[in-house]
Amino acid sequence: MQITLESKPFAGVETEALVSYVFEESDPVQGRVAEIDHLGGGLLRRLAKSGELTGKMLEFTLLHAPAGLKAARLLLVGAGKRAPWDSATLRKLAGAALRYLKSRSVRNFAMLVREGQATEESAQVIVEGILTADFESDKYKTDKKNDKRIASVSIAGYSDAERQKGEKGVAKGRVIADSQNFARDLINEPSNKLTPSILAQKAEAMAKAAGLSVEILDEKKIAELKMGALLSVAQGSVEPPRMIVIIYNPPSAKPGAPVIGLIGKAVTFDTGGISIKPSEGMEKMKYDMAGGATMIAVMRTLATLKPVVKVICVVPATENMPGGRAQKPGDIQTAMSGKTIEVLNTDAEGRLILADGVHYAKQLGATHLIDAATLTGAIVVALAGVNVGVFGSDQAFTDKLLSSAKAAGEKMWQMPIDEEYREFIKGTVADIQNISSGKGGGATIGAMFIKEFTGDSPWIHLDIAGTAWNDDTKPWLAKGPTGVGLRTLVHLIMSY
Ligand code: BES
Ligand code: ZN
Ligand code: ZN
Repeated sequence: MQITLESKPFAGVETEALVSYVFEESDPVQGRVAEIDHLGGGLLRRLAKSGELTGKMLEFTLLHAPAGLKAARLLLVGAGKRAPWDSATLRKLAGAALRYLKSRSVRNFAMLVREGQATEESAQVIVEGILTADFESDKYKTDKKNDKRIASVSIAGYSDAERQKGEKGVAKGRVIADSQNFARDLINEPSNKLTPSILAQKAEAMAKAAGLSVEILDEKKIAELKMGALLSVAQGSVEPPRMIVIIYNPPSAKPGAPVIGLIGKAVTFDTGGISIKPSEGMEKMKYDMAGGATMIAVMRTLATLKPVVKVICVVPATENMPGGRAQKPGDIQTAMSGKTIEVLNTDAEGRLILADGVHYAKQLGATHLIDAATLTGAIVVALAGVNVGVFGSDQAFTDKLLSSAKAAGEKMWQMPIDEEYREFIKGTVADIQNISSGKGGGATIGAMFIKEFTGDSPWIHLDIAGTAWNDDTKPWLAKGPTGVGLRTLVHLIMSY
């Protein structure tokens, strides 16, 4: 999709649709919308008076052949209350406008920012909104006759003086949204098209193209390094595991500065193993590699955005299958760290592979750890598909992440994790066990298990089991993979 900044005054912009947004207030026809209304002879104000134009969140008002404008259509999207303004709203509005117009076979439109909002951030979130909204899961559809595509979007309302900021925002928004969609493409792939080795190849190709260093550890190397927890999950499958390592190392990184470790769970299919899952809904377990895909996609942005910190990405990739060599409940495994684990449930496999992932990231020099994983059904019970579950061992670090989440428009909610929960995973025959001996608190227990391998490094765990996949289409996002977490992590890394 072509995205440009429009330099003409909005009335003269020739486009299939001019899009702007209205706030929900006693008079929604104000500022730039009042200017449009002035050219149109007061129709908008009449619509507002009659109650047809209210500014309510995501209300769509579509006018054809609007008087006074060169545009073929005028689309006004309700933006809700004017204060407090949040750029996340603009991202959603832009995305919802794109999907609304696309479904009506419109091929291009101009997005007009409201008075006082011609900033770098506005341009960035508009681009993020439209590119992520444009993503469809139609790669394997062979009939593309009725394909509706938006070919180009321009962003209007920037003066010559504001143009440079706008261009910067567009460039930033593009790399972030393209990377989020890159993650979503990976997550969408079914497990027969995306095995651990194929994921590794794709990660390697991306890293090489972006100019990042990359190393793929194969099953032999993984065994040499004694990654027993990862191997225990992989042994039930004929597909060999991979450990994907991508490093961004800027020359500007100062010695002694923090090194961020990003660890992502990539189970390309989770059957549960011998503790097999029910067949209903099992097909969704192709997205059990969303954490890994998201971390790989974060690395993709860094080559362009060039933060000043070093970032090490470690993605353990495997299938979880109930093959003849599969591990069995009760088996005892030795993780890379030397800790012994009693595997009481083979379906709690994410924490096993992350145990080695986290340990390896530390060994490579990461000082601050963040993992992302579709780890537990319990987080879906607690937070549904609305918030990412956040667990942290260091409150200052966790607060930094939560404020990045807010800035990036991703909903995240902190969950408890304290020493009292350690009791639940204390081993009887090994050091620890991979499920709780008590009841409840499943998401915290999963997090607690990973924490065992983080030592005293500040660490954050993101449980994205509920949020990595949209079960229903939203006005601004297609059903399917979301790529959640990417924007927050990019914001956090850029804030160093
Ligand atoms: N991949 C699942 C978690 C999951 C559930 C992801 C729903 C996405 C949607 C994970 O490996 C798993 O099976 N967890 C078990 C842990 C239990 C055995 C302690 C779960 O949550 O049931
Ligand atoms: Zn599982
Ligand atoms: Zn899993």
